[in-house]
Amino acid sequence: MTCSIAPGKIILFGEHFVVKGAPAIGFAVSKYAKVCVEDGYFQVISKQTGNIEQGSVLYRAVKRLITYANSIFKCDEDVRILVDSEIPVGSGMGSSAALSVALAHAYLTHCNASFDKKLVNELAYEAEKEVHSKPSGIDNTLATFGGFLKYRSGVFEKLDIRLGDEVGFLVVNTNLKRQTGIIVEEVLRLYEKYREVLENVYTAASVLVEKALKSLRERDYESIGRLMLLNHGLLWTIGVSHEINDLIVHKLVGKGCYGAKLSGAGRGGIVIGFVNKSLSTRIEEELRSEGFEVFRVNPDYEGVRSV
Ligand code: PMV
Repeated sequence: MTCSIAPGKIILFGEHFVVKGAPAIGFAVSKYAKVCVEDGYFQVISKQTGNIEQGSVLYRAVKRLITYANSIFKCDEDVRILVDSEIPVGSGMGSSAALSVALAHAYLTHCNASFDKKLVNELAYEAEKEVHSKPSGIDNTLATFGGFLKYRSGVFEKLDIRLGDEVGFLVVNTNLKRQTGIIVEEVLRLYEKYREVLENVYTAASVLVEKALKSLRERDYESIGRLMLLNHGLLWTIGVSHEINDLIVHKLVGKGCYGAKLSGAGRGGIVIGFVNKSLSTRIEEELRSEGFEVFRVNPDYEGVRSV
């Protein structure tokens, strides 16, 4: 049996504004999808949900990836695929991309193919097209290569950012599920209606991301936190926050995080807090005792790998 893991992702700065050409920064996180491939008749089995039915999105995505791989080189299509993920689904943490990347890596390894991460990323992107109608490619790129990425208008740039071991992130899952596409459409309509006002907000978002890049490189944690709050405010302005997002941001900052913001499409999803690790256990426990689903993550700098 051949197994690989790939990390989930978090958008740190610039979501939504990126849709109109502003830059955004995302990073891979220490929550993983694991995929194992072994000889057998074609079957997809999830540790969480059991046998994956033919016709389901996951089944189709797996099939599409395997078929695409076989158009590049010949390999055995009769394989048993076991998937296991600790990444929350539908919360903007790139769960489907991490699965696709881990699958591509495990399958290529199983086939004894000579490959590089670029090919893994390409195969995973093919599967992502089955899940999201127009994927930007950021999720699979982060799951493949790990670390921090800047992206703008479809161009990805790997960033030489490495945060110190003394800091990490808290992720609070609101468990409010939403559809990214619908929120994105709404934001675009708002932009058209109030263009004269919002143009300045979009410009501010671009400037904010460039400043955040500098703060991340310099490990200026206070500034990173402040910029996260400013970014949350801009996201609130374009209508993608929710009272639960705002409440959690206030709690995280009130309890000692450097900063906090919603991450991804918003209207629920996840809220992230940037924290000194000396405080994270206490904050995590307090939030849990208040009924919140919360967990800690660190950046993953490695990306997909065999396990
Ligand atoms: O679907 P999510 O939560 O990972 O985030 C979507 C990010 C947006 O900027 C809102 C949309 C996009 O395609 O970039």
